[in-house]
Amino acid sequence: MAGPRLANYRRAAGLLECRIGVECMGWRPSPYDVGLMAATTAHRIAVIGGDGIGPEVTIQALKVVRAAGVNIDTTDFDLGGARFLRDGEILSDDVLNQLRAFDAILLGAVGTPDVPPGVIERGLLLKMRFELDLYINQRPFIGTAPGHTKPHDFICIRENTEGPYVGEGGVLRKGTPHEVATQGSVNTRMGVERCIRYAFELANKRERKHVTLVHKTNVLTFAGNLWERAFNEVAAEYPHIGTAYNHVDAACIYFVQDPHRYDVIVTDNLFGDILTDLGGAVSGGIGLASSANLNPARTGPSMFEPVHGSAPDIVGTGKANPTAAILSAALMLDFLGETQAADRIRAACADPVSGNTVEIADAIAARIKG
Ligand code: IPM
Ligand code: MN
Repeated sequence: MAGPRLANYRRAAGLLECRIGVECMGWRPSPYDVGLMAATTAHRIAVIGGDGIGPEVTIQALKVVRAAGVNIDTTDFDLGGARFLRDGEILSDDVLNQLRAFDAILLGAVGTPDVPPGVIERGLLLKMRFELDLYINQRPFIGTAPGHTKPHDFICIRENTEGPYVGEGGVLRKGTPHEVATQGSVNTRMGVERCIRYAFELANKRERKHVTLVHKTNVLTFAGNLWERAFNEVAAEYPHIGTAYNHVDAACIYFVQDPHRYDVIVTDNLFGDILTDLGGAVSGGIGLASSANLNPARTGPSMFEPVHGSAPDIVGTGKANPTAAILSAALMLDFLGETQAADRIRAACADPVSGNTVEIADAIAARIKG
């Protein structure tokens, strides 16, 4: 498949070819040369600023990525509510196919009050999640919850392609007293299991090695049972990883009262959506919450976006905190193999910065440049 990684390899290939020529004459690449090759190969990033504060925070995130010394080649895609109102384009298959050729997608936020709810969300954001098979929504939470003195550090793994988000259901007799609306939740063994496996693999790389399943098995007995069985069967393959189960309502209490109990959480799409807003609220605010929509199989680009929405009420005021977008860009760099730059960005964001949107990003960039 002519995926984004191939595009990168092709670029690197040009360099390799001339190196190989020299190698015949006795030259061998040193680690320095390999580093040089990585640095000269730009990561191709599709940028969708989107609606509201999305474009404002995305520009700042790109500035910080460049300050960290990462070579990126960006292409802007004008998509979102404003574009839809102008010419009806939400995300055509043609544009979607163009996106497939990139190494990653950086997204600001989508959704505008001028367009009915769901049109842009389903047509743009969810279409990308489904069509690019971004089946993991990874949201890290590091912070000190209100009323606590000790920091917590946990990651939510939200299933990102199934559940109630699929759009199963419909409406009958709309607008009449006999209106019927149904909205199902789709859970496949494959979809649930690959998400749970990802969570266990992630926990395996972390110090605490613990995974909590969050669901509502006492009420959603069909879907809950599928999740529970898949979880227990995968857990049996990782005997050294500790496990727990919380109902989602109880998890809401623990997020506030005892967030330290968590290391990796795995949960369904809708529970994960709701819980991660709460995760943001107890970890320094939604202005810091970052997310990665991952295609771990790398059959196409992954997409990175702040957890927050388009916040149309503060557009243009300079009040939007770009940190969530900056930390989302750091997750993008992790996925692109630029871990050192990602770590430097995270370190620069660790201490709070005050100021307007541009001042916060400038201060973070200045810390990185040291
Ligand atoms: C999120 C957002 C989206 C979601 C919306 C904008 C569709 O709230 O990424 O958490 O519900 O997944
Ligand atoms: Mn959400």
